[in-house]
Amino acid sequence: MRHLRSIDDVTADDIATIMATATEMHDVQSRQVKKLPALRGRTVINLFFEDSTRTRSSFEIAGKWLSADVINLSAKGSSASKGESLRDTALTVTAMGIDGLVVRHSASGAAHQISGWVDVPVINAGDGTHEHPTQALLDCYTLQRALGDLAGRRVAIVGDLTHSRVFRSNLACLTRLGAQVVGVAPPTLMPAGVGPWSGTDGFEVSNDLDAVLPTVDAVMMLRVQRERMSGGFFPTGREYTVEYGLTRTRLARLGERTPILHPGPMNRGLEISPEAADAASSRVLDQVSAGVAVRMSVLYHLLAGEEA
Ligand code: NCD
Repeated sequence: MRHLRSIDDVTADDIATIMATATEMHDVQSRQVKKLPALRGRTVINLFFEDSTRTRSSFEIAGKWLSADVINLSAKGSSASKGESLRDTALTVTAMGIDGLVVRHSASGAAHQISGWVDVPVINAGDGTHEHPTQALLDCYTLQRALGDLAGRRVAIVGDLTHSRVFRSNLACLTRLGAQVVGVAPPTLMPAGVGPWSGTDGFEVSNDLDAVLPTVDAVMMLRVQRERMSGGFFPTGREYTVEYGLTRTRLARLGERTPILHPGPMNRGLEISPEAADAASSRVLDQVSAGVAVRMSVLYHLLAGEEA
């Protein structure tokens, strides 16, 4: 494992190693002194061309708790806003002698491209509608803690599948761990050409949330990504909620033990009701907490100089 650009960069064994290290790293969070020396002397740049709350701050915290120096760069405030190309920006920051690059960009494939230009490990923190591998790893980590081994477990991923890199990475990661995935979306938000995918082992699609919910071990709700939509994908927000929202009524039918996930940011009242977001079975804040541990583990395995 040299880069983490997509879940394709990791085998099932790599995932197991990342999870095991993340479990150890997770303990650091509850300590008073949250520093490990593992990446002392290493420098990581977070290059974020798209907005982020949890991903960027958790990568920053993860790097700092491993004693790396972490620098945050965003498009606004960097020369990218003056028209510098992505390649020039990537080459410029790596020429300073950094050891790793964490990249978020609105173009699908940006992390892959950058990894061909620079000679340091590249971690994809979200590229357009393509992938968000550390999110999938932290989601699977959270699900493993809630459900144990994921082999044979059935997970619904519900919502704006077309625009979701979280969906694509989770589908790859969950099925690699032996879980079954049901993608639930209105026909307009079901990715084009998903037919052949649904032939892959452990994946099916549905337009009927009420039929799917009683059959699953966990539910992952996804944000309706209005900023990536150019037209009317559904008539009104209200109609979307009635058909595809995790409403109070659906929450009551779900049962108290079924974990509810959402990568955030949540549109409360649209894809998820406040009751579901704050339910005892909601794992949303566990996901955030796991995000730091999993990113510590990924940074450690990619940068500490030992093969995972
Ligand atoms: C996601 C993202 O940016 O891809 N959020 C995140 O990283 N936690 C999902 C989203 O924006 O809806």
